[in-house]
Amino acid sequence: MALDDIARESWATRVGFILAAVGSAVGLGNIWRFPFQVGQEGGAAFLLIYLFFILLVGLPAMLVEFSIGRRAHLNPVGALREYGGDAWKYVGALFMCIAFLIMSYYSVVAGWVVRYFFGSFTGAYLEDPEGYFLEIAVGIDALLFHAIFMVAVIVIVALGVQRGIELAVKGMVPALIVLLVGLAVYAATLPGAGAAYAYYLSPDVGVLAEDWRSIVPAAAGQAFFTLSLGMGIMITYASYIAEDQNLAEDGVMIIGFDTGLAILAGFVAFPILFAAGIGPADPGAGAIFIALAGGFGEIAFGQLLGLAFFFAFSLGALTSAISLTEVVVSYAIDEHGLERTRATLAIGGGMFLLGAPVTIDLVMVDLYDILAAEILLVTGSVLMMILVSWIDPGKALDELSKGIGDLGTLGDAWIWLVRVPVLLVLLVSLGLAVVGYVEFLTGPFAEFLGG
Ligand code: PFF
Repeated sequence: MALDDIARESWATRVGFILAAVGSAVGLGNIWRFPFQVGQEGGAAFLLIYLFFILLVGLPAMLVEFSIGRRAHLNPVGALREYGGDAWKYVGALFMCIAFLIMSYYSVVAGWVVRYFFGSFTGAYLEDPEGYFLEIAVGIDALLFHAIFMVAVIVIVALGVQRGIELAVKGMVPALIVLLVGLAVYAATLPGAGAAYAYYLSPDVGVLAEDWRSIVPAAAGQAFFTLSLGMGIMITYASYIAEDQNLAEDGVMIIGFDTGLAILAGFVAFPILFAAGIGPADPGAGAIFIALAGGFGEIAFGQLLGLAFFFAFSLGALTSAISLTEVVVSYAIDEHGLERTRATLAIGGGMFLLGAPVTIDLVMVDLYDILAAEILLVTGSVLMMILVSWIDPGKALDELSKGIGDLGTLGDAWIWLVRVPVLLVLLVSLGLAVVGYVEFLTGPFAEFLGG
């Protein structure tokens, strides 16, 4: 069954839509990528800019996607064509490529999570958290779990059991909250906690002044990645919402859940990393895995809690991965008339192959991730915002007002916010991201290639 069929019935309830959107938003971005970025970009200075991006850019951008989607009742390619004219379908096509790329490495990292889940049965990671991560994150182990995760996604998307998402989210989000709160309380008792909080929560203006060129694009990329913005997922989901629903309220709610979970993950990761003397930046992509494994090794019932945690975390990764894969599959079905099972196998197989090189070395995660999050997602959103704010704001304003009533000056404020400050910040951020990526390619990546 296509997303269309099920979505059309289930989104009839407001909760169904919110849960699906939260399911897409809450995933590796919150628990893996967020602490990793905070660590890499110098702590609280990054957090500050990130929160700024979530509120000032994430919310308006989400409303842009919601209004395009609900207005057209179509997939992203069709919806953009409808909104802006024929040429805009190419932007929709760009979104499909972005989803394809993100899913390819998302599955590799999700494979790590699944591996930790299985490792929890034996407590494999408790002894040597850092060594364990380095062992399973690359090579044949990583490839195997990348395959396992991808197969699970293919089966679910091929069967079209979208209803499972609702169930998964209803269990996963509360479980993650409870477990993260518990872990954060434990982490607060550790000797390094004070220094960790200072690092995480009190922005150092010096760091900001010195590193803004990498902090700004990283924060923008993280905001789009974690909210599932910039490639049409929210267009798709909104295409099934009822006309009388208040899009702004829904957006605020989804963003609230997503941001809260990320911030909570930081309260777990940093005290544990500080206490272990590892330091926030050193473990890079392994930050949260090493911190959690270290934490579970120290507390009562750690192994059991680890099992529960990595189970909930796997579900979170799965619901996001389903949204990423489904958007490409339903496009192939709608626009090219492919049969669902075949389309899913071909697309999922392609995503697996594209992700396979990521298992060679951790530097490959950066190669894919910076390009996808900091450059492509931001580009996708910039294009949509130009369409809605400069080219044709009327349609979006009309759509947004449907569940709200007269928008008054707030509507104009929204359009003007997007038109000038938001676009300006994003363009600067995009320019910095491109410069940073070239530096990465000619620096660490060239070094890696040179052996
Ligand atoms: N928002 C998801 C996460 O934070 O893990 C990842 C993601 C899903 C990104 C869907 C982009 C997307 F379209």
